[in-house]
Amino acid sequence: MYLSWASNVGDVRSRSNFRGTRGPQVRQLLEVSNLTKEYTTPRGPLTILSGITFSLSRGDALSIMGPSGSGKSTLLYILGTLESPTSGIVSLDGQNPFQLPQKELALFRNKTIGFVFQEHCLLPQCTVLENVLIPTLVAESEDQYIERARSLLEQVRLSDRLDHRPAELSGGERQRVALARALIRNPLLLLCDEPTGNLDRQSAEVVASLLVQLHQRQETILIVVTHNPALAEKFPIRFQLAAGQIRPHNGVS
Ligand SMILES: Nc1ncnc2c1ncn2[C@@H]1O[C@H](COP(=O)(O)OP(=O)(O)O)[C@@H](O)[C@H]1O
Ligand SMILES: [Mg+2]
Repeated sequence: MYLSWASNVGDVRSRSNFRGTRGPQVRQLLEVSNLTKEYTTPRGPLTILSGITFSLSRGDALSIMGPSGSGKSTLLYILGTLESPTSGIVSLDGQNPFQLPQKELALFRNKTIGFVFQEHCLLPQCTVLENVLIPTLVAESEDQYIERARSLLEQVRLSDRLDHRPAELSGGERQRVALARALIRNPLLLLCDEPTGNLDRQSAEVVASLLVQLHQRQETILIVVTHNPALAEKFPIRFQLAAGQIRPHNGVS
């Protein structure tokens, strides 16, 4: 992980957990450079993000805390290519996704990015297993994902709920399905927006622990936006977003 102005860059970077066959050099797979976001409103331009710069490599896990309205979701949606920045560069796996034509961008997003939202966003008419397989409908070969879906559902401890519909699950169970769905295509980047925001404390704790475990196993880049200090503190890198800027967060909320 790298922050342009941080005094402890070396310290944080050395904690980057880069494994695999690509050699000892850390490859920064998510690079965010001088990112800004402004909305045009009847009262003039509204600046939400102003000059955000950081980069992360595979295995990094980051939490972002900040007051309501500080732009956490906006930042996450830009990183997830669901919204475009006003200026600045996002580079993911060496690619600036905002330069891609619309159709290629959708495919890139489907393959590279997993989302977990505060609302589970599961399809009510589909079973648990079908919901997890939805992102694979556009994949080259769907069949290869059925075993992976079963395995992910086992890892989120829902093997005995494969045929349930979302209405037949608890809130925590629905979020665990959403987590399995987000990971089905083995994304490089996993983005979670208040993933435990709608859950009671016990369910939130279960989802948070599973998130940590799955991130470690899957080696994604994980970014979690949360109001929940107990969740934020589970991650080695912590940011605070305020006044359009990010700062390292010391854990005191
Ligand atoms: N389309 C939009 N037009 C104008 N302002 C917006 C728009 N979307 C979000 N905002 C404003 O951007 C700010 C940040 O929103 P958001 O990213 O949702 O914050 P957070 O997730 O931290 O609560 C809010 O003040 C919100 O009102
Ligand atoms: Mg939000």
